[in-house]
Amino acid sequence: MRKIVLAGNWKMYKTQAETRSFLQGFLPQINDTPENREIVLCAPFTDLSTLSGSMHGSRIMLGAQNVHWEDAGAFTGEISGPMLLEIGVRYVVIGHSERRQYFGETDETVNKRLKAAQKHGLTPILCVGETKQQRDNGETEAHIFSQLEKDLVEVNQQNLVIAYEPIWAIGTGETCESKEANRVIGLIRSKLSNSNVSIQYGGSVKPDNIDEIMAQPEIDGVLVGGASLEPASFGRIVNYK
Ligand code: PGA
Repeated sequence: MRKIVLAGNWKMYKTQAETRSFLQGFLPQINDTPENREIVLCAPFTDLSTLSGSMHGSRIMLGAQNVHWEDAGAFTGEISGPMLLEIGVRYVVIGHSERRQYFGETDETVNKRLKAAQKHGLTPILCVGETKQQRDNGETEAHIFSQLEKDLVEVNQQNLVIAYEPIWAIGTGETCESKEANRVIGLIRSKLSNSNVSIQYGGSVKPDNIDEIMAQPEIDGVLVGGASLEPASFGRIVNYK
């Protein structure tokens, strides 16, 4: 069974005070959200500990935005699987285009992080997607297939979520047409050994396009940046119709 996973990616937003205020607004909105929808917040590390201490049995799952491949060591600025597990983290975003573009993340390091996450029982959310230039040059499929091939070496597809995030659609307001996202996600699925992997769409997901996106047969959820920062808009997204 393919699981529905609706994840907010807060990136480098929200202090702990802002996180507490988000929770106050958001928790009441998910009282009637269907049980089969997994709600995940991928928050900055400091906010993860706030969330883990203040959710009191809520159904929100915690997600981190990075994990190192070693359990401990001299790796300034990194975070390890055991540190995340200790505070109740269940998911971790790996290979986001911002990490690849600004922080030197490569397919090789993405692969190491994926395997480390799984070793600790965390579910990785692997992000793949093409630039505008790659799309215009007709290289979308080849680029994504190459990412999948390198990133998924020896990765267990029984504990994996993939997010298709066209880079030109991230934070731009320019959403990928839902039928096109559905097509690419179908192609991604055709390359997997486990066809039950949940595959999300990400890139300018908003309250006003979520219903159409989730109506697509191949799309199993969303990874939401900007629109996950406000309780009302993320509430509307997880309660899509
Ligand atoms: P966006 O970001 O929803 O703000 O476009 C999505 C993402 O980067 O995961």
